Amino acid sequence: MTTPQAAIFTETSQHFYFLEYKLKSSFSVEKLISSLSNIPKEKNGTLQLIAFGPQLSKQLLKDRSPEDLHDMTALKGPLYSMPEQQNDLLFWLHGNDMSDIYDQVLVIQKTMKNVATIELDQSAFTYHDSRDLTGFEDGTANPKDDSRYPIALISEGNSEGGSYVFTQKWEHDLDSFLELPVNQQEKIIGRTKIENVELSGDDMPKNSHVSRTDVKVNGEAMKIYRRSAPYGNSTSKGLMFLCFACDQSRIQIQLERMVGITNDQISDHLMKYSSPVSGSYWYAPPTDTLAQLLNTQ
Ligand code: HEM
Repeated sequence: MTTPQAAIFTETSQHFYFLEYKLKSSFSVEKLISSLSNIPKEKNGTLQLIAFGPQLSKQLLKDRSPEDLHDMTALKGPLYSMPEQQNDLLFWLHGNDMSDIYDQVLVIQKTMKNVATIELDQSAFTYHDSRDLTGFEDGTANPKDDSRYPIALISEGNSEGGSYVFTQKWEHDLDSFLELPVNQQEKIIGRTKIENVELSGDDMPKNSHVSRTDVKVNGEAMKIYRRSAPYGNSTSKGLMFLCFACDQSRIQIQLERMVGITNDQISDHLMKYSSPVSGSYWYAPPTDTLAQLLNTQ
């Protein structure tokens, strides 16, 4: 029985930190494993997820890496696009004490800087009652309790207990969104803003965010488990999107539907007000696979 990394399913944190690295061309597997082994494990309630980009995952984990794991590639639809920016290593930290999280960030950066360069360095936070900065509750249709596991984790084979992961930084044009009347904002998301009720029938536009992401293929709901968190300062703000899935194609299908790379060519109206500026796929191995890798030194 494999155990998933604890950071995936703990939902009580107020503070988050995303670190994404690209390996230097001079890196060696031995040096990387030695660096990773020197990073202290989770402590003081700070949770830490480690995940590998597709190429690195195959290199480090061999046949324990999912065979079909592939890089994020640029997506171009009729109105909007998503950039190609596949990185190699993800650390996702979260907890309730930002001091502890920041101490860990400093240790990771000090340890990794010899083998990798930092490409994405972003703190994030729980905003009010789990709202996105647009004011809409984010995560409502997420699977709950035990139903999360089969949606987020690979159920069989050499990668059992691991997870396909996707991160994407989004930048909001928040002023423009918030200047819209609330009923127009609701049509963009597909839910009411305060009561958080899904729109139905003719009230639900085909280009709302919910219409583009709530999708069935051959009768099966392409559910994913989302752990996104807002970030921002006074001028730059948005969402650090993060999700886990048992199958990478579930995520890819949703991205293609948002961009409009579909027969209907409809794109997600949300993309008029928020733009993706990164995007990487990852594999998060279960704890025993990670421990074996890091103890090989
Ligand atoms: C700016 C970026 C985004 C924002 C602000 C955003 C916000 C939201 C909000 C407010 C909801 C409705 C409440 C809920 O069920 O959580 C939602 C639903 C959802 N979003 Fe996003 N989202 C973003 C990007 C994405 C991306 C990139 C994906 C897919 C890769 C995605 C997948 C989903 C899914 C699957 C649902 C639930 C649909 C349903 O079954 O009702 N979202 N999102």
